[in-house]
Amino acid sequence: MNERYIGLMSGTSMDGIDGVLVDLSTLPGHVLAACHAAYPPALRERLLVLAQAPRAPFSELLSLDMEVGRHFAETAAQVLESAGLTAAAVRAIGSHGQTIRHLPGQSPGSTLQIGDPNIIAERSGITTVADFRRRDMAAGGEGAPLVPAFHAAAFAGDACRAVLNIGGIANLTVLNPGGEVLGFDTGPGNLLMDAWAQRHGHGPMDRDGAWAAGGRVDQRLLTRLMDDPYFRRPPPKSTGREHFNLPWLEKRLQGLDPPPPACDVQATLCELTATSIREALHRHAAQARELLVCGGGVHNDHLMARLRALLPAQQIRSTAALGLDPDLVEAVAFAWLARETLAGRAGNLPAVTGARRAVVLGGIYPGRTGI
Ligand SMILES: Nc1ncnc2c1ncn2[C@@H]1O[C@H](COP(=O)(O)OP(=O)(O)O)[C@@H](O)[C@H]1O
Ligand SMILES: [Mg+2]
Repeated sequence: MNERYIGLMSGTSMDGIDGVLVDLSTLPGHVLAACHAAYPPALRERLLVLAQAPRAPFSELLSLDMEVGRHFAETAAQVLESAGLTAAAVRAIGSHGQTIRHLPGQSPGSTLQIGDPNIIAERSGITTVADFRRRDMAAGGEGAPLVPAFHAAAFAGDACRAVLNIGGIANLTVLNPGGEVLGFDTGPGNLLMDAWAQRHGHGPMDRDGAWAAGGRVDQRLLTRLMDDPYFRRPPPKSTGREHFNLPWLEKRLQGLDPPPPACDVQATLCELTATSIREALHRHAAQARELLVCGGGVHNDHLMARLRALLPAQQIRSTAALGLDPDLVEAVAFAWLARETLAGRAGNLPAVTGARRAVVLGGIYPGRTGI
């Protein structure tokens, strides 16, 4: 049976699209080709503006939906080409799309991922599964995180393990042998560090955490940041740029006298990510002795050093130790979710998202030869 799938993912960091062509006949999957297609800076800027504009122009939404769709289609073509395969060799594409709104806390909750899947299916000729989150929300769930089901399928072991994905937002999955899978967003991963670095002329990220490493944690600020009720809220919970953003930080910087220098703020933001992860782990996975890390944050040396310092009882390794490149875990997860959908199997875990029931996720956009 053809078990080759393409997974396409772009997360809250809005850094660009991770594409993977993976054979899922054994998990965590055998990667045949992968690429990262960075968004052109002007496109990234438009997406950031759209994601944060209280009243986004409808024409901009439509235009970006199609432009992002074209970029996703190109990424699919790129991985296909680098694997030396044709469309017929791939069963389906799972496309996450680009989140531009995630408002799970409202009633009713809403979430929107753009990147028109019609364009991906039409250009590639490959059946495309997309729009995974909204079905979970329609069933009363948070719509996120969706990766824990894949983490469970790919990484469960004999002992309790936690999987940590450090994207723009960080999410944690707890895998208890024989028990229910737990998963939730811990809070900011990289997105505040990225935004602060960008504002202070360090480019789109604090590479390797070098700037943060040269600063000092401001305990006054850290206390204020950690005081956000999100960190204390019990799961199910998920969050996004709508909650954790520069204005959120600025509000908590106000009135600090003397104000911390910019590099100390960066060090504190890094500490916030590490501390909120430690708290989440202590509260919900105290028994886990192993922490498997994936997502771009794994390349932030300072963040990883702080995590190791704050979690001395856990063995902290990248998912590469279990055979999957940490930069590709989410893209592979969406390839896997496409497979589950086409097989008619549910992709969400109600215990994780809070949905009333397990549901088959996503819309199916037929390829050239049908579904
Ligand atoms: N060398 C690095 N040093 C520091 N941070 C990095 C490095 N490489 C990647 N990152 C971080 O990882 C982010 C991308 O991670 P990713 O897992 O793609 O997140 P998302 O799923 O939100 O798109 C970047 O925005 C950046 O913050
Ligand atoms: Mg990314």
